[in-house]
Amino acid sequence: MNSELRREYLAALGLKAWTLRARDAHAEPFAAGESLPAPAPAMGRQQARDLGEAREAREAGLDWDALRARVAACTRCGLSATRTQTVFGVGSQQADWLIVGEAPGAEEDRRGEPFVGRAGQLLNSMLHAVGLAREQVYIANVLKCRPPGNRDPSPTEAAECLPYLEQQIALLKPKIMLAVGRIAAQNLLHTDKTLGSLRQQVHRFGAASVPLVVTYHPAYLLRTPADKRKAWEDLKFAREVCSRV
Ligand code: URA
Repeated sequence: MNSELRREYLAALGLKAWTLRARDAHAEPFAAGESLPAPAPAMGRQQARDLGEAREAREAGLDWDALRARVAACTRCGLSATRTQTVFGVGSQQADWLIVGEAPGAEEDRRGEPFVGRAGQLLNSMLHAVGLAREQVYIANVLKCRPPGNRDPSPTEAAECLPYLEQQIALLKPKIMLAVGRIAAQNLLHTDKTLGSLRQQVHRFGAASVPLVVTYHPAYLLRTPADKRKAWEDLKFAREVCSRV
């Protein structure tokens, strides 16, 4: 991507000034993490993990169409009663990048596609800033159904749903995963650590040990634009990790 175009994307992100600044003495102290409370687990993490592993075996071997059909018919948790439709995922099945969010919101539940609301528009701009079009990546969520009122996913819901994402990963074989937001990061990495403490590191996901980088959720960035600069650093970090794979 030429520098002119990148400047335009960064301007759309509100990042123009940041790119002109050196990442140095002016940099803000590293954030301790978002101040949102951690979810109260109804099921122990290990229990949820065991359940997820048992489910995972059931989806193993499904191709994209069979997996999509299985997700569309899913009634494994109570969210099936309140959803308008499942939100499977969208993008290139040849993508190097897999972006993973938390769960569909109201707009995504209505349209059946992840990240189509305001947060989705910012996500598109974030991707463009590192030279990626939305169509070049694959975008999915930890949960395929919207939790009512956009509440946090319960550990049980995440454990029931994660095997679908696991199989998407097995089919896609991404070079890099980008977890956006604390909830996605904590569920994928089976941790209670803060988002701030998980950023700027290469984590590994699943049996294939896919490199995983964590950044802020675009909805959080819409509320806290001052942290967009850190998200920009995370995206550049992810791009560099991807280039090494
Ligand atoms: N937030 C998410 O985490 N995922 C979506 O698909 C939309 C908003």
